[in-house]
Amino acid sequence: MHTDDYTPEIQHAARLLREGKLVAFPTETVYGLGADATNPAAIRRVFHVKGRPSSNPLIVHVPSFTELLRYIDFSRSKDPALLHNRLKALEHFWPGPLSVVAPRVREICADSCAGGDTVALRIPRHDMALQLLALSQTPIAAPSANPSMYISPTTAQHVRDNLGDLVDYVLDGGACDVGLESTVVSLLDEIPTILRPGAITASMLETALGCKVKDFAPRDDADISPLLSPGMLEKHYSPNTPVILRDKLDNATPLPTRVGVIRFSDTTEPLNTEAIKILSRSGDLSEIAANLFAALRDLDQMNLDMIIVDTCEPVGLGAAIMDRLLRASKR
Ligand code: TXA
Ligand code: MG
Repeated sequence: MHTDDYTPEIQHAARLLREGKLVAFPTETVYGLGADATNPAAIRRVFHVKGRPSSNPLIVHVPSFTELLRYIDFSRSKDPALLHNRLKALEHFWPGPLSVVAPRVREICADSCAGGDTVALRIPRHDMALQLLALSQTPIAAPSANPSMYISPTTAQHVRDNLGDLVDYVLDGGACDVGLESTVVSLLDEIPTILRPGAITASMLETALGCKVKDFAPRDDADISPLLSPGMLEKHYSPNTPVILRDKLDNATPLPTRVGVIRFSDTTEPLNTEAIKILSRSGDLSEIAANLFAALRDLDQMNLDMIIVDTCEPVGLGAAIMDRLLRASKR
């Protein structure tokens, strides 16, 4: 595509990224806070704007599988041929909500990877993002575009609400389809390991790879190191209002005056409350995932005393939903 074929918004955003500026952009998962992954000053600003600990590495976004391979240093892999085969086996998930961790080439700056030797890479499934990445002609590091520890944004307005003037431009691509952050899988060792659960599940990865995949297990120690996902940090994705999971509700405990409720379908027993969000008529997990973060944000703005949220089986996409909810409910 010629530059003139892109919308003026995308041309503007790509120009800013190339100048080392910060551009929030839509993906199928959540909005990202993008910066040139080869520009240390731009990357340091991302950490500053988010209030993110410098020990938490960023995900780098690329527009194609060829580009993804380009930023991996196969010579530093324990088994370069195996790594290459595994990436080929995962290729059909892209563009999509999957990030892979592998040894990085030097071109990706160390700050972006929290000083580590590895990089998480993904190809987002969103036309505007893919066009932006293609036109920028540089790998784009993009954490979720929210202040560290708050709920990830699933609309451009969420980004403006949280980060306002701290970002140079917000590219508006509507609401995100998936609504939960990508699955992060490490391909550094013989057994692929899920570091953060998402819409691409362990069993989907096992089928594609033809080998055992170590599924994500919540950990109780809260150590942060560049090789662990901060997804492993206990508290994360938290609204300011206390969140209580409905299956933890003790009937004997009196509820505070102003309670909001997030229901997964319209069949669960209603509670008599101030504000109710129903995420899906039929309890469909994809719909629940897509609507969850916006519902948490909306209720968080109402100055309620408590938000009660339904729960689901932690299986498939339900594992990612329950992972985010358990973290949101940690005080
Ligand atoms: O869906 C997504 O992945 C979104 C959109 C914008 O693409 N991005 C996102 O980025 O969620 P962030 O920064 O909020 O989360 C990045 C996750 C963290 O859990 C981080 O620890 C992990 O990816 N990660 C990044 N680089 C890593 C590395 N080299 N090794 C291990 N984990 C890594
Ligand atoms: Mg995040």
